[in-house]
Amino acid sequence: MRMSIEFSTRVARAWDGARACENAQMRAAPLVLPASLVTALRAARSVAVLTGAGVSAESGVPTFRDAQQGLWAQFDPRELATPSAFARNPKRVWDWYAMRRDMVARVAPNPAHFALAELERRVPDFLLATQNVDGLHRRAGSVRVVELHGNITRVRCSAEGTVVAQWREPADALPPRCPACGAYLRPDVVWFEEMLPADALAAAEDAARRCDVLLVAGTSAEVYPAAALPELAQRAGALVVEVNPNETPLSADAGHVLRGPAGVVLPALVAAAFPG
Ligand code: OAD
Repeated sequence: MRMSIEFSTRVARAWDGARACENAQMRAAPLVLPASLVTALRAARSVAVLTGAGVSAESGVPTFRDAQQGLWAQFDPRELATPSAFARNPKRVWDWYAMRRDMVARVAPNPAHFALAELERRVPDFLLATQNVDGLHRRAGSVRVVELHGNITRVRCSAEGTVVAQWREPADALPPRCPACGAYLRPDVVWFEEMLPADALAAAEDAARRCDVLLVAGTSAEVYPAAALPELAQRAGALVVEVNPNETPLSADAGHVLRGPAGVVLPALVAAAFPG
């Protein structure tokens, strides 16, 4: 299992804007929920969920790799989401995350987030592992959540790692500093080349190994180690279900693929499995 966040070759190509937009299915396809899937979800004692940026798309939070509006189509992650980028230009990185933090504060959870919170209430053993840093799952009422890539609403000391609740923007062109040691503050997110929080990853892997059903929603399934969770679940015998309007590297191996926006598919699936 790879521990630090890695780019795949496909991601590198996406930076160059080479990938075509494949959103046609998002507009057209009628939603079909296979009876065997509905039955399996209803019968499951243990459900795990892996979410990505697509689950927050209908809240107005941009994804990363969608060809036109994705953040990595407009910004180079090597300049914004790596420790070396922060070392080179801390203020630029700080400001970019501050802009996204403000944006996240202005949006609200969507029906996909609420459906997953409802699913948690219906299943005895449940874990939601998210790559999203926006905190929208908790705001929708999810409790058993692990944030694999941190949380953009928090800020921590870049030297000691201590979370800092309050800070003031300095007048000079530098990020604010840690009140304890004076090092720059940084967003409490995981950057490329950094390790994921070990306890969050371990909890997600445990859940993947023991679940009966793994729902994988709104992720391009390209960024490791999160992208390894479906295979882990499948090898342990789970039914893996992808919810995504577009094809991903997972699509060919998933037990079921539900093509459509998470805000439509997930409420329909949860309502079908747990009516009333
Ligand atoms: P991506 O931007 O890579 O993928 C988003 C996925 O959501 C794509 O497969 C879309 O087809 C799908 N999608 C778009 N709209 C959707 C909708 N309404 N409903 C369901 N799916 C939809 O985002 P992630 O897979 O989350 O890491 O990216 C993983 C990590 O790469 C992120 O956590 C971030 C990024 O670089 C860091 O910043 C370290």
